[in-house]
Amino acid sequence: MDRMPESKGKVCVTGAAGFLASWLIKRLLLSGYHVTGTVRDIENVKKVGHLWKLEGAKERLFLVRADLMVEGSFDEAVMGCSGVFHTASPVLGRPTSDPKGEILQPAIDGTLNVLRSCQKNPSLKRVVLTSSSSTVRARDDFDPRVPLDESSWSSVELCERLKIWYALSKTLAERAAWEFCEENKIDLVTVLPSFVIGPSLPPDLCSTTADVLGLLKGETEKFKWHGRMGYVHIDDVALCHILAYESETARGRYLCSSTVIDNDELVSILAARYPSLPIPRRFEKVDRPYYEFNTSKFKELGLKLRSIEEMFEDCVASLTEQGYLTTSVLKTAD
Ligand SMILES: NC(=O)c1ccc[n+]([C@@H]2O[C@H](COP(=O)([O-])OP(=O)(O)OC[C@H]3O[C@@H](n4cnc5c(N)ncnc54)[C@H](OP(=O)(O)O)[C@@H]3O)[C@@H](O)[C@H]2O)c1
Repeated sequence: MDRMPESKGKVCVTGAAGFLASWLIKRLLLSGYHVTGTVRDIENVKKVGHLWKLEGAKERLFLVRADLMVEGSFDEAVMGCSGVFHTASPVLGRPTSDPKGEILQPAIDGTLNVLRSCQKNPSLKRVVLTSSSSTVRARDDFDPRVPLDESSWSSVELCERLKIWYALSKTLAERAAWEFCEENKIDLVTVLPSFVIGPSLPPDLCSTTADVLGLLKGETEKFKWHGRMGYVHIDDVALCHILAYESETARGRYLCSSTVIDNDELVSILAARYPSLPIPRRFEKVDRPYYEFNTSKFKELGLKLRSIEEMFEDCVASLTEQGYLTTSVLKTAD
């Protein structure tokens, strides 16, 4: 008979139905946590159904309705939790005419809203905030020979000028979180994933996995703009969040990225691996600075990150299983 994992206590995950949060909840349940997940649309079976299928969910998952834009909305969810993983933040795959209302306010004000709820919770030990590598690399004043690390911050002026709303929202939200937590003595650790690749538990694809599906089907537009990019396996990102929470010595920001490569190099790896897919071979060049990431701080947490090949293999298998790609793609080159 399978043994029940030993209980690790109660934690909260915001935006539970999302791509990354769902995988984080899967990992938290497997390691024995009781998890309170927040969702906006708790009755929507299509959005939350996959969470109830996770191992341990029936016994140790509890869902609560909460919205980033409703003050005090997270009070109930975080109360009694020793850890709060704040992952909810808008990731839009489409242009918006209202960046303030659709992206910036939910990200920045929403983060402060969650932190104010955390402040009311006497059981709180640590908050782990899902930030993004876009809070580090959106700048044009660095030496490309020196890999970017956690000491780097994206330029607010550049993000505003180029209308890179997502990077701006994540940069301002993380900065606001640090300021609030320092003032209010909350133990905060932030995880900065690069582009997250891997299986999707939600049946509807999030914007980044939809971009990957587009690429595998021959679309060039999104990855032309993504240009040079860091990539990381979703399971490694989830494990990094848990290590950032559990490790007593974890402090500050953690860049979480396996490999940084140009879009041309990425498609050459993918086209060789999946010859039956109409993967584009080349992209129109966009003017972007060359960069690498220095992830030595992350490596101190003790996790070995999966390769580009492994992350895409898991992603392609999941897209095929979910019916987004036909089974012929499973015939790989080797
Ligand atoms: N995917 C990547 O490559 C990547 C890379 C670096 C960092 N991240 C970060 O990872 C986190 C999760 O992103 P994801 O890729 O998993 O995207 P996702 O599936 O779109 O998840 C975003 C989550 O945020 C929630 N959310 C958005 N606005 C909200 C609001 N007003 N109130 C409550 N919840 C709200 C969404 O809730 P609903 O389900 O109700 O819409 C959803 O659960 C984000 O913080 C993102 O910035 C992602």
